[in-house]
Amino acid sequence: MGSNKGLDSNISIAEEGGLRFYSYSSDEYSNGGKALLKSMPVFYNPVQEINRSITLIAYRAFQTLWKLVNEEKTLKILDTMAASGIRSLRLANYLEKPLSITANDINPLAIGLIKKNIELNNLPIKIQIENQDCIPLMAHYTAKRDLFSIIDIDPFGTPNIFIQSAIRAVEKKGLLGVTATDTPVLFGVRPDACLRKYNVSSLRSTFSKEVGLRILLYYIAKSTHPWMKAIKPLLSLSFDHYIRVFVQIEKGKEAVQLNLKNIGYIVWCSNCDWREKFSLNILEIPKKCPNCGCSLKFGGPLWIGDLHDESFVLNCINQAEANSKDIIPSKSRIERTLKIVREENQLPLGYYDIHKICDILQVSVPSMKTIEEKIISKGFQFSRTHIEPHAIKSDISIHGLKAILKEISLVNNSST
Ligand SMILES: C[S@@+](CC[C@H](N)C(=O)[O-])C[C@H]1O[C@@H](n2cnc3c(N)ncnc32)[C@H](O)[C@@H]1O
Repeated sequence: MGSNKGLDSNISIAEEGGLRFYSYSSDEYSNGGKALLKSMPVFYNPVQEINRSITLIAYRAFQTLWKLVNEEKTLKILDTMAASGIRSLRLANYLEKPLSITANDINPLAIGLIKKNIELNNLPIKIQIENQDCIPLMAHYTAKRDLFSIIDIDPFGTPNIFIQSAIRAVEKKGLLGVTATDTPVLFGVRPDACLRKYNVSSLRSTFSKEVGLRILLYYIAKSTHPWMKAIKPLLSLSFDHYIRVFVQIEKGKEAVQLNLKNIGYIVWCSNCDWREKFSLNILEIPKKCPNCGCSLKFGGPLWIGDLHDESFVLNCINQAEANSKDIIPSKSRIERTLKIVREENQLPLGYYDIHKICDILQVSVPSMKTIEEKIISKGFQFSRTHIEPHAIKSDISIHGLKAILKEISLVNNSST
C-alpha cells in the first residue's frame, strides 16, 4: 500500500495485476483472520485476486470463441458489482479490443473510487460508469435490446436474485461469470436456507463442495428454461470459501432438452460413502445402499452433467501460460488448477477424500502417486480434483478403493 495524497486517510494505493488503484485498507476490516470486509466503505479483498485473475483468463478464452462468430464486433461487458473497480480496470487493460466495459455499483462511494482509479491509470479504453441497483439496470438494457456479451456477478453471499435479470440481459451465446460466497448454504450446512434460496435439498456429504457447485449450476440452468434458454458450463470452480462458475447461455428447445437430461439427484450413503447420480425420474432412486444396506440421503435437483467444457479449459490453460505473473499474479496456482480441472472432467461425479477414508479405516495415508498407480493397475481411472487437495476422483467403487488402501497399508507395514 502506498500514499493517498488528498484522499480519506483510510484510503491507500494498492497494486494488482500490474495496475495501481485506491482502496480502503482491508487490514482495518479484518479481525484476527476473520474478515469483516463487507463492512468496508468500498469492498476490496486482496485474497480474491485469484477470482479476478481466473476471470481475466476465462473472459479472454471466451473472447476467442466469441470472435469466431462476431469477428470485429465490440465485446461488451457489464461488471454489475464493481466495488473499487479493480476487476473492470484489469479487464480493460487485458482483453483484446474492440471492447466496451460498464462498471456499476449500488454504492455511491464505490463510484467515487472507481472514477479516481480510472484517472490513476492510463487505460486503453474508456470505462462507462453506472451507479444503480444492477437488477433494474439489467432490465433497462434488456428493454432497449442493448445486450451484453458477458455479465459478471460478484455479490456478497448468494447470487440468486441477480440471475434472472442477467439471463435476459446477456446476448445469445453470451457468458455469465457468477460468484457465490454463501458456501454453508450450498455445502449442506444450512439445508433450510438452501431450499429457500435455490429450491434444492442440499446434501452434506464427503464431497459437499462439488455438490454446492452442482446446486448453483442447476439454479442458473432452471432460471434460463422459462426463456427457452439453457446453460453450457464452461468452467466451474470451488475455490477456498467461494464458488465461481462461467456458463454460456444457449437458446432453443434442443439446448433446453439437453439441459434437462443433465438435471437429477445424487444419493449418498453416510455409512460407506457409496454415491450415485439419478435422473429426474424419482421412482428409479433406491432407498437403501446397494453396498451396505443402510438408508441413503439425497440431494437435488441439481446439475449432474459435466462441470467444464474440455476445449474451453484447454483454451484457458493456453491463455494462462501465455501471461506473466505481473498480469496474472496467481498464475502458478491457476495453471495447476486448470490442469487438474481438465483431468477431473473425464471422471464420475463426486470425489473421495483419502484422509477421511484412511481415518475411518485406521490406516496411514499413502502418497497420491501410490494410490494412483494401484488404481490404474486395477484398470480404473484416476484424477485429482481441484476442489480438495487430499481427494481423488475415480470410477472405482468405494469398496474397491478401501480394499486398495488396506492393501497398501499391509504392504507398508510388512516392509517396516
Ligand atoms: C463482493 S463486492 C464486489 C467485488 C468486486 N467485484 C471485486 O472484484 O473487487 C460486492 C459489491 O456489490 C455491490 N452491490 C450489492 N448489491 C448490489 C446491487 N443490487 N446492485 C449493484 N451493486 C450491488 C456492493 O456495493 C459491493 O461493492
